[in-house]
Amino acid sequence: MYVILLGPPGAGKGTQAALLAETAGLVHVASGEMFRDNVRRGTDLGKQARSSIEAGALVPDDLTIAMLLERIGRPDAAGGATLDGFPRTIKQAQALDDALAQRGRQVEKVLMIGVGEAELLRRLSGRWSCPDCGAIYHEATNPSRVDGHCDRCGHPLSQRDDDKPSAVKHRLQVYREQTVPLIAYYQRVAKLVRVNGEQGPREVSRDLLAALEAVSA
Ligand code: AP5
Repeated sequence: MYVILLGPPGAGKGTQAALLAETAGLVHVASGEMFRDNVRRGTDLGKQARSSIEAGALVPDDLTIAMLLERIGRPDAAGGATLDGFPRTIKQAQALDDALAQRGRQVEKVLMIGVGEAELLRRLSGRWSCPDCGAIYHEATNPSRVDGHCDRCGHPLSQRDDDKPSAVKHRLQVYREQTVPLIAYYQRVAKLVRVNGEQGPREVSRDLLAALEAVSA
């Protein structure tokens, strides 16, 4: 099944997509991580996306849509995936619907992780992540076992450039303006389920899984 994780920056989309990969075996497709990987490798796409990401703005729709549709066309995602960070605009959502419809598929569920702004700021300012394998930590609530290094692969952890306060403020504004309209878009087709994201990661995951089980039942 194709499942979208929707929610503001820092809501826990990446954390939850990793848990869904463990528990439900759903392939994790994360647009932000794909862009950051292209930036690190210095690809043409990375060069085009870099300034938008650092400023906390969206990468243009045409680049984003092409990248994501190519990714979900690969064999490991042909049967379904968790989409983390995509779609983020109405144009992206329409492109996804069209592409899946051409394959006789559709988005099954959109899981909206709700978290208030004060908690988002706390999460983003304390986030550390592994630039190598993508594992996500928080210095207070989910620290790595070996200080400053990834538990999974041992690589040194880093903080994202777009977690600086000025970029975070812009990301939240962009979310409100460009991504919040997706809530109504998916409510209209009865695909949206809201989950309380202000619980511990395991509790959020439990609620997401319950929503998915209701789809497959
Ligand atoms: P992206 O990487 O998608 O960033 P985002 O949507 O802003 O989301 P984040 O990754 O910041 O947060 P998250 O919700 O995944 O939270 P996390 O699990 O890390 O996008 C980055 C940029 O790429 C965009 O700004 C844009 O430029 C570009 N881009 C990407 N997609 C695009 C698109 N479709 N179109 C155009 N441009 C695009 O958790 C956050 C912290 O909280 C962590 O420290 C974690 O440990 C902690 N935490 C998580 N859950 C909990 C919990 N339940 N309780 C306590 N702490 C928790």
